Amino acid sequence: MTIRPILRAGHPVLRLTAAPVTDSDVSEIALLVEDMYDSMCDAGGAGIAAPQIGVSLRVVIFEIPAYRLDEGEDAIPLQVLINPTIEPLGDEVALGWEGCLSLPGMRGEVPRPARIRYTGLDLDGQLIDRTVEGFHALVVQHEVDHLDGILYPGRMTDMSRFGFTQELVEGGVCTLPVPPSDDDEEQEDD
Ligand code: NI
Repeated sequence: MTIRPILRAGHPVLRLTAAPVTDSDVSEIALLVEDMYDSMCDAGGAGIAAPQIGVSLRVVIFEIPAYRLDEGEDAIPLQVLINPTIEPLGDEVALGWEGCLSLPGMRGEVPRPARIRYTGLDLDGQLIDRTVEGFHALVVQHEVDHLDGILYPGRMTDMSRFGFTQELVEGGVCTLPVPPSDDDEEQEDD
């Protein structure tokens, strides 16, 4: 297990367009995903993209606990997406609060297509092809943006809705989802 440092906003690797994974990279991807997972869990995130640990390849992972989703929705187990694609479906735009491991301690309200179809390959080379909405759609779009050098503030249209999580919560601007259990650890970033 290797926890790698997570690059913060301003680092040049986070601004690159990441390269597609090719057949010759495949043997290294499982190791990369392990490091991504360890780093994401250590930092308390729901998702992470390879560039955030300094690897400019088109790989993202996410894992969404049930309390972050609408009532009645099942938790989304760890999902690896290699060379993901996203197609927005319809014109509806949803506003959602986002955080990012590369912008620790901050949050912003971001407009994004509410409903998307996404594809990608998992670690076994199986095609994932899903139509989703809600927080699931938000997370996938946020992570895939990292592969194109985009951090969520770059998607915002109202910068008065961007700031330090603590100030936003204390000022009543946003609320944070509360984990159901005993753990009072730091809130997750997306
Ligand atoms: Ni992020």
